[in-house]
Amino acid sequence: MTKPEFSKGLEGVIAAESRICKIDGEQGKLYYCGYSITDLVENCSFEEVTYLLLYGELPNRRQLDAFTLKMRANRKLPEPVKDMIRSFPERAHPMELLQSVIAYLSGYTEHQIHHGPDCYCTDTLHQVAQLPSVIAGHWRTRNGRELVDPRADLSHGANFLYMLTGEVPDERDGRLMDASLVLHAEHSFNASTFTARVVASTMSTCYCSISAAMGALYGSLHGGANERVMEMVDEIGSVEAVSGYVKKALDEKRKIMGMGHRVYRAKDPRAVAIEGYLRDLSERKGNQDYYSILKEIERVFRERMEEAGKPIYPNVDFFSGAVYRLLGIPRELFTPVFAMARAAGWLSHILEQRAGNRLYRPKAYYTGEIDRPFVPLDRR
Ligand SMILES: CC(C)(COP(=O)(O)OP(=O)(O)OC[C@H]1O[C@@H](n2cnc3c(N)ncnc32)[C@H](O)[C@@H]1OP(=O)(O)O)[C@@H](O)C(=O)NCCC(=O)NCCS
Repeated sequence: MTKPEFSKGLEGVIAAESRICKIDGEQGKLYYCGYSITDLVENCSFEEVTYLLLYGELPNRRQLDAFTLKMRANRKLPEPVKDMIRSFPERAHPMELLQSVIAYLSGYTEHQIHHGPDCYCTDTLHQVAQLPSVIAGHWRTRNGRELVDPRADLSHGANFLYMLTGEVPDERDGRLMDASLVLHAEHSFNASTFTARVVASTMSTCYCSISAAMGALYGSLHGGANERVMEMVDEIGSVEAVSGYVKKALDEKRKIMGMGHRVYRAKDPRAVAIEGYLRDLSERKGNQDYYSILKEIERVFRERMEEAGKPIYPNVDFFSGAVYRLLGIPRELFTPVFAMARAAGWLSHILEQRAGNRLYRPKAYYTGEIDRPFVPLDRR
């Protein structure tokens, strides 16, 4: 039999129709529900963008106020969830806690029925509203500190920083945290979003779908590149050492973290936005070290890529790690913070999947044997 054509890793396969996100990789543009990411990040709160992703339209003032109120009212964790956070194994990664806790939270919906096609996640918004409380609570527990209760007068991002550090952040830091969440909220059919849709297509709960997506995001080929960018920045240590490091890495065919993307052939628009924020933040904090090293890496890297004719540019992860560090977020929380933002996109895709559902069931090209002679157990 001739080998059928197939696409390993589903590369290039269009698996569904979607109205949520458009990536124009050639032009370096990104749209949520038709709105440019540049407009959204400059003008909208994370709550506003979550509304857009869930309902497909930007809210008016009244709708936004009601939605914001609902999200903020759901931030507080039930006591048993706090107990779970406190008793989670110390050595476990926060992403493992997030995967478990999301499924656990399903027991705290007000509705009796939350299985099957009826989905109440837009009412409870648990998975979006409570993730910051879980992440901050876990971090504080592991560092021997008491959990900090959420505050309803702070934005999603500012409240996260407050619960993490116990101090109300500078207003500009809070806004920057929100902006970063907006930039990470959605990115089409990536591995974790596709995972969420596959699970949702079985008519499983939105909790189980998001829990599965969390597992996919944890993997080092998906979330986590910004952690490795900061490891590289620490290893390089100074602007003077950049050129030697980058050239050696490329000569040895090693990849430079935070560079390149499967879809973008231009600079990732999220990287453009977050670079601007990093520049301002570095100035405000009086610490230009990370920004200077990153810009020098970009310069040396791009020079080499131009020589080789390769359209490889910084992606969002290249600058985001430095922003998080300057905001006081530890490296281990970079992927959980990504999850905190992406939960909005996952939820949006789960709802879209349910609305026009067809069970995902691809085929495999079987390469094993058939009709093997069966040998009974005592003769093997
Ligand atoms: C994101 C990524 C996996 C996309 O990969 P991809 O589309 O499958 O592209 P490939 O890995 O096949 O790379 C294609 C070519 O570009 C080169 N390339 C891609 N990213 C590179 C990088 N970060 N540094 C150096 N070279 C890179 C590859 O070496 C390869 O060169 P070759 O054709 O001479 O062999 C890849 O760019 C990467 O590993 N980047 C670093 C990790 C990262 O930042 N991930 C976060 C993504 S948001």
